[in-house]
Amino acid sequence: MIDMLKTKDILDEKDKRLRMISKEVIFPLTDEDKTNIKLMEEYLENSQIEELAEKYDLRAGMGMAAVQIGVLKRYIVIVNETENGFDKYIVINPKIVSNSEEKIYVTDGEGCLSVNRDCEGIIPRYARVTVEGYDINGNKVKIRAREEVAIAFQHEIDHLDGILFFDHIDKNNPYKGKDIYRAI
Ligand code: NI
Repeated sequence: MIDMLKTKDILDEKDKRLRMISKEVIFPLTDEDKTNIKLMEEYLENSQIEELAEKYDLRAGMGMAAVQIGVLKRYIVIVNETENGFDKYIVINPKIVSNSEEKIYVTDGEGCLSVNRDCEGIIPRYARVTVEGYDINGNKVKIRAREEVAIAFQHEIDHLDGILFFDHIDKNNPYKGKDIYRAI
């Protein structure tokens, strides 16, 4: 058992497991899953604290799906830094149940802890999504997310279905939609 996730523990895009569909979680969570969630949460938070990121050589990220550490189960963790500290979202069996009409994209492109190269192009995402799922105790949760957090949910839920962010980039016209969607 490991006590801390390191960048090397995160699967690289070439790993075929990242293309597989993760399985629904049946409650109660196993101790291993609870540990994994803690480790994922810690990694994401530490990776956004400069001195810790440097100390442990962590690549900064705000979201992680279990499959990225080789666990093919449907749970995700998002840690978003705000003015008041870190907002954390841990969702088991997450599902997007509704979305805005409006689409947005990250100007500098999305990043992924499993993708260690630049991918140029537009990744259109819903500006707002409502996500339903369960917390670690099996209680139903409903989260309304917007802007970068909405993007993080879409990105992480994609991982559970074997989809990587660059799959959404139009190969023939990577900047397609640049003037239609809103840049954030
Ligand atoms: Ni990712």
